[in-house]
Amino acid sequence: TSNQMWGGRFASGPAAIMEAINASIGFDRKLYRQDIRGSIAHSRMLAEKGIITADDQKKIEDGLNAILKDIEAGKIEFSAKLEDIHMNVEARLAELIGPAAGRLHTARSRNDQVAVDFRLWVKDETLRVAEALKELIAAFLERAEEHAATVMPGFTHLQTAQPVTFGHHCMAYVEMFARDLSRAKDAAERMNESPLGAAALAGTGFPIDRHMTAKALGFREPTRNSLDSVSDRDFALEFLSLAAICATHLSRLAEEIVIWSTPQFGFVRLSDSYSTGSSIMPQKKNPDAAELVRAKTGRVNGHLVGLLTVMKGLPLAYSKDMQEDKEAVFDAAETLDLMLAAMTGMVRDMTINTAAMKKAAGSGYATATDLADWLVRTLGLPFREAHHVTGRAVALAEQKKLPLDRLTIEDFHSIHDGITDGVFSVLTVQNSVKSRTSFGGTAPSEVRKQIRYWRKRMTKS
Ligand code: ARG
Repeated sequence: TSNQMWGGRFASGPAAIMEAINASIGFDRKLYRQDIRGSIAHSRMLAEKGIITADDQKKIEDGLNAILKDIEAGKIEFSAKLEDIHMNVEARLAELIGPAAGRLHTARSRNDQVAVDFRLWVKDETLRVAEALKELIAAFLERAEEHAATVMPGFTHLQTAQPVTFGHHCMAYVEMFARDLSRAKDAAERMNESPLGAAALAGTGFPIDRHMTAKALGFREPTRNSLDSVSDRDFALEFLSLAAICATHLSRLAEEIVIWSTPQFGFVRLSDSYSTGSSIMPQKKNPDAAELVRAKTGRVNGHLVGLLTVMKGLPLAYSKDMQEDKEAVFDAAETLDLMLAAMTGMVRDMTINTAAMKKAAGSGYATATDLADWLVRTLGLPFREAHHVTGRAVALAEQKKLPLDRLTIEDFHSIHDGITDGVFSVLTVQNSVKSRTSFGGTAPSEVRKQIRYWRKRMTKS
């Protein structure tokens, strides 16, 4: 039998394989709430504008509310024959209220219907991600405050570079996740327009009020071009972009946690709740959650590339290709939610080994730059020459198997006879970080200033 929604010109139903490739109900059932909400708003507007009767509108709205209840109670069996959530809901409505159901789709197409449903879903999810980011930022602010003066080695090329504080390192992540938060917020603002009423692609001759439905659905205003309204998936792409960037940040953090929690580094100890043991090696405590966050980034980033590739060659307006937008976004969203929650828990719960951090900060000649700077400041050497002198001091210390601050003044004189006792004060890691007071620098005083700044900003967001 041919399809009850569009079967008028069809003599026979689809081949089984056609149904399998065409149906989206397996995943777009997730949109049932948005679909029903959109339909109720549409029907109210139709009645308000005299396009359907108040009586039919009431039947439609009551029917849709009953369907919502039944879906929520698990009482509805969706059918692949009816393709998608839109037609499943409408077919059920027809069963419930009869011919009045057929009036709901006046001045509407599935093209604007799916666009509005999906926008509503993506907008909500984007705001959910923003909330989760706020929690993660709050966790980092806590740890930063606790460890504003905890010295650790800073790295470039994963080689010891200069001492920093753990609080400063935490605040670097606050900056990253705050950018993700601002991306989520302004993406949510851009997607805050309703495509409902664009109809199939050209608008409609019925006297609809798109401002009314936009407002009823919580959108700022209706979209301004009917063609663009049904062919635009930027909102999905923007969600995937911000998800991919955020996931990439989480993955870098995960990688650091994996490294830091090795016995070789020993900078942090993960709580039992975020690690696992080995079935053969009793000594092991593995950072599985961090590794999975690192890995799941691949999926999220893949979905972005996937949807960009679906969209890149599509002519205006709607093509069925666009049905492929949903699984990408649903999976990325579910994955990102999980990643954010796991990371927030890990950051909150992990134990910081300040002694191991301090010890590591003191090795690897991390204060060599401080020595060079001292030579510039105190002896007036050009920086390039100071760099050279310092290099010789490091070589000597290496040869003697000593840290820089354990060289004697005679050792220093063998390298440059102008060096005085005053040099020793800049060679300790504490003094090194304390001196980095430039705006955004690692000095504990500056780190505390940045924590205050972000605490204030976060109360406003
Ligand atoms: N299930 C479809 C989708 O997700 C709904 C829109 C169908 N429109 C159409 N002209 N076939 O994209």
